[in-house]
Order: sequence, then C-alpha cells, then structure tokens
Amino acid sequence: MTDPVAVNFCETDLDQITGAKGRVAVIVTPDGKLDAGARRANKLTKGALARLVESKAWEKKKPGDLVTIAWPTGMAADALDVICLPRAAKPEEVRKAGVALGKAKGNAALLVLAGQVRRPVELTLGIILRAYEFATHKTKEKEEGAGVTLMVARPDEVKVDAVPALAVAEGVFFTRDLVSEPANHLTTTEFADRIAAMKDLGLKITILDEDELKKKGLHLLLSVGQGSASPSKVAVMEWNGGKKGDAPLALIGKGVVFDTGGISLKPAAGMEDMTMDMGGAGVVAGVMRALALRKARANVVGLVGLVENMPSDRATRPGDVVTSMKGDTVEIINTDAEGRLVLADVLWYAQEKYKPSGMINLATLTGAIIIGLGHENAGVFSNDDTISKNFLKAAEAEGEGAWRMPMGKAYDDMLKSQIADMKNVGGRAAGSITAAQFLKRFVNDDCPWIHLDIAGVASVKSETKYSPKGATGWGVMALNRLVADCYEGD
Ligand code: BES
Ligand code: MN
Ligand code: ZN
Repeated sequence: MTDPVAVNFCETDLDQITGAKGRVAVIVTPDGKLDAGARRANKLTKGALARLVESKAWEKKKPGDLVTIAWPTGMAADALDVICLPRAAKPEEVRKAGVALGKAKGNAALLVLAGQVRRPVELTLGIILRAYEFATHKTKEKEEGAGVTLMVARPDEVKVDAVPALAVAEGVFFTRDLVSEPANHLTTTEFADRIAAMKDLGLKITILDEDELKKKGLHLLLSVGQGSASPSKVAVMEWNGGKKGDAPLALIGKGVVFDTGGISLKPAAGMEDMTMDMGGAGVVAGVMRALALRKARANVVGLVGLVENMPSDRATRPGDVVTSMKGDTVEIINTDAEGRLVLADVLWYAQEKYKPSGMINLATLTGAIIIGLGHENAGVFSNDDTISKNFLKAAEAEGEGAWRMPMGKAYDDMLKSQIADMKNVGGRAAGSITAAQFLKRFVNDDCPWIHLDIAGVASVKSETKYSPKGATGWGVMALNRLVADCYEGD
C-alpha cells in the first residue's frame, strides 16, 4: 500500500530554521501579522517576509493560501512557504493550508513552524491527503519522499490527537490505491486478498466464493461475473467495536474490477476508465480499515460484491431473465447496467444475514449522475430523512460534496418488464434515479438506507480539494465521521 508521508511532531526550536533542508513553512495572518517562526524567517531573509505581506499580492490571499519564496537568502532550504491563516482559522481553512503544503512539498523534506496553529491535526491531515502519489507501476523517477516535521505547542498531546486522523488518512490511501490499480493487477482475487489481509487489524473477514454464492442464490451478481475468467466473490468485513448484540450499520460496495459493458459492449474511447468501477467497494474497504485502525466503538459490517463484467460465450445476453436472491426476477435489457444487479443481491444478503440497523451502499453506478452533478457532488438517494440528513451533515463537515436526489413511484414504474418482475434499465430519462429505484426494490421498507452514486467523484481528471488528479477516496472521511457522530454511543 502507498504509505502516507511520515509525520513527526516536536517542540518549537527556531534555531533549526536556518539549517533545515528542503522546505520550511511559516504562518502569517491575512492582515500581515508574523508569528514567532515567521519573524525569525523574516530576519534570516533580511526582510523578505515583511516585503511580501506589504505587497498587493498578499492583500488578495485568502485563509489557507500559500506563497512560496524560492531559494531564500540566509536559509539552507530551497523554499520558504508562507501560509496565510488567521489566528482563529476554521478547521476547513487549516486543512486547506495543509493541502497547499502537501501539494508544494513534492518529495522534499518539509519543516512547518506550526507553534501557533490551533488545529495542527487538520493541518497534518491536509498535508498527508494531498501528498499522495500512486507510483506502484513506475519503474523510473520513483523517489522516496522525505518526511514532514511539525513544530507544535504540545507535541505529546498532538501525537495522541492525531491518531484518528492518521487512521482515516490510511483508509483514504487504501481506497485510492484500489481505485488506481489497473484491472490486470486488481483482479477479483487480488481484491479479496487485500481485504483478507485486514484480519491483522482485528476485522473478521469472510470471503464467499462462487459455489457458496450459488448456494445462497445470488444469481444476479453471478450473472454479471459469469463472462469473466476471474471468479466472482463477496467479501465481508466485520468490525465489532460496539456493544455486543447491537445491530450493525452495513456498508455495501459495488466492486466491478473492470466494466467492459459485457455483451452490451461500451465504446472503446475512455473504456480504460472503467478500471475504477470498483470504487464503491474501494471506499467500503477504506472505511473499514479506518474504523479498525482507530478502534471505533461501533458495530459496522462492510460487504463488497467483486466481479468483472466481460463479454464472452458464457456472458449474460441482453434479454436474459435471472432470479435474484430475494426471489424477484429481472429481465436484463442491458448488460452494461450491471452494478445494480451486483448490489441488489448484496443488499439482500446483508439484510438477511446481518439484520442491520441501516444500510449505505456506494457505487460508480451511472454516467447520468456525472451529467447531473458533475465531479463536485455524489448523488444521495434515500428512503429515510434522518439517515440522509446525518450523512449530508457528515459529508459537509469533511468537505466532501454530496447532494440529495429525488425518488418516487413514477420513476419506479419505468422499470416495468413485459416478461419478468422488472427490467434492469428504465431508459435514458432520469437514469440515475431509475437505477436508485431498482436498488430500493431490494431494501426492506423499515431499513433506513442510502445509495451513494459516486461515478462522478471516485476518480477525476483534475486535482480536487484534497487529492491530486486520479482516485480521490471520496466518502471515506464522511462515512468515518458519520460512524463517529451517530453510531458510537458512549
Ligand atoms: N460503471 C458504469 C457507470 C459509470 C460511467 C461509472 C462513467 C463511471 C463513469 C455503469 O455500470 C454503466 O455502465 N452504466 C450505464 C447504465 C445504462 C446502461 C443504463 C450508463 O451510465 O451508461
Ligand atoms: Mn456498466
Ligand atoms: Zn459499471
């Protein structure tokens, strides 16, 4: 796994500024007040900081912005990063400053004079999240990144406070690696193996193979994977950190390791992006990792359906009718609408086996959600106002975009089939909503449920608030917070 950059917290020692290699970062308020570290840097650079804060350029700076003074006089460092941050900065402003530092850092060593920053953990998390690089398959230019040192007011306390944030960062990295990994490397078996290795963190892992899935009746899921040489699997991760016997929250993920569309083959252009079609499963695995690492006091079960959607002589044909685990029959009009087939059976299995208090599923489910919401927000579909409000609040607090979408009977009616209980597509109109309606048919009415369509946010072509371009890990932080705020009693 890609390791988060090594972070070290220590007492402030201004004498180290002179000789520190790589980059040194100091804090200046928007109205130009230098803290102790900044004053020392100003002195060493013979007034460069004072000139900067008196300039027109500084007036335009917002909290969390960064200005670099390159090759500063009087210092061994290659760069002096000046962060604009008010004394009473909001958490998101501090995290934004961290992200700016993480971006500027590259592989260089970084010393941050954060003695007067009130939320050093937010700053640290921002640095780590942005300083991610998926370099597994680069044989050249692969350089070990140097670490980060933060000089803070009470290093021993900050070290303790940082533990949950570092757990979440590791969860995000785990997800990003899974999403970035090409499909010839991340087969269904490799995915299951990476999940199985998390037993060392105290998670109870169960991997269901094709024979077991057949016995249990998950024929919709199996129908998606049957054209592939990679065996279909369901991986279950149980974290029992809460009260014994308390019903768990279930997290369910679409894990299509590659989506060719099957017999309803996708066009060639852009098909390579379908390596991220296991993004929902990736987020579920990342959240479970974070919960285990920070020993969350909640019962949470993660279930992911791992399949590959391939065309072959054994593949499902358009027009085939398949019986779900629930017992309802589905006419598969389009084999490219496969994610909902996988999720339908895993949702049903989750309810039958774990009797969850609520369910949240994540899936790169529809291209239509990208048309509707772009890459800024995931689509939130729910049968319950309480759980969806709780989720939206958690997502907002973490700066992960999420937007509630409508559902209703008229949309559900679009799934009517001539020959079976339903068809798997509802037509072009409201494509993301009819997909959600399909899933809802496999959720018991009394089970609070959210479907998150993350097709637009799981992996993006330009950098986001917290990540370089590529896999984002969207949702790991929001779900971790949701568990912390709403499922960890005292
Ligand atoms: N995995 C795709 C959705 C997707 C599209 C994810 C773009 C990420 C980026 C999904 O399986 C799919 O193919 N959906 C079809 C549904 C259609 C056939 C009803 C789509 O969105 O076109
Ligand atoms: Mn598809
Ligand atoms: Zn898909």
